[in-house]
Amino acid sequence: MSNLELLFDPSLIPSSSRSTLDDDLFLRPLASTDNARGHIELLTVLTSAPALSQQTYASTFQELKAALNTYFVIVIVQRSTDKIVGCGSLVVERKFLRNAGLVGHIEDIAVSKSMQGRKLGLKIINTLEDIGKGVGCYKIILDCSQSNIPFYEKCGFKQKEYQMVRYM
Ligand code: ACO
Repeated sequence: MSNLELLFDPSLIPSSSRSTLDDDLFLRPLASTDNARGHIELLTVLTSAPALSQQTYASTFQELKAALNTYFVIVIVQRSTDKIVGCGSLVVERKFLRNAGLVGHIEDIAVSKSMQGRKLGLKIINTLEDIGKGVGCYKIILDCSQSNIPFYEKCGFKQKEYQMVRYM
């Protein structure tokens, strides 16, 4: 991990999040070279995620990294294949209200089909929550499909409000 350029300081990830995974798996911040480890391919379990050129991937990574204390993308890597099998993002929003408080938004949670049902999704959510707590978020919110509600309830979330959307 020491040679990789990471999106954020890995010490924000509690050691408990790393230590309870199978030996063949490890969890870390996104690295600038993760396109080659199947990051975008993994996101296709979630929605349309066409392949990105190395250049676009690298410039997107740098754009996220330049926005300080905002983007916390984590990945679970399988050591034996050097492939990413899980990922998730926490985007931290600064508010004027709540005494200039911080709200965390959980986005783009994906676990590869062959690894689903092994508590990796739960691990990703718990880790993003720990990061959010660590950086001072007063709440963490997310949007999901109806079919994923039971998963997020198992992660400790509850239903509140409604989502609205208008595509451009
Ligand atoms: N319906 C009911 N229960 C579920 C579901 C579901 N769709 N998914 C997981 N669970 C339950 C599991 O059975 C488990 O329960 P248990 O503790 O009683 O055994 C618990 O939730 C934890 O499950 P995990 O094994 O951690 O789930 P997994 O690793 O498979 O990850 C995920 C779940 C992320 C939804 C995965 O199936 C996936 O990648 N799906 C496709 C992409 C997707 O829908 N992502 C979420 C989009 S919403 C967003 O990104 C904010």
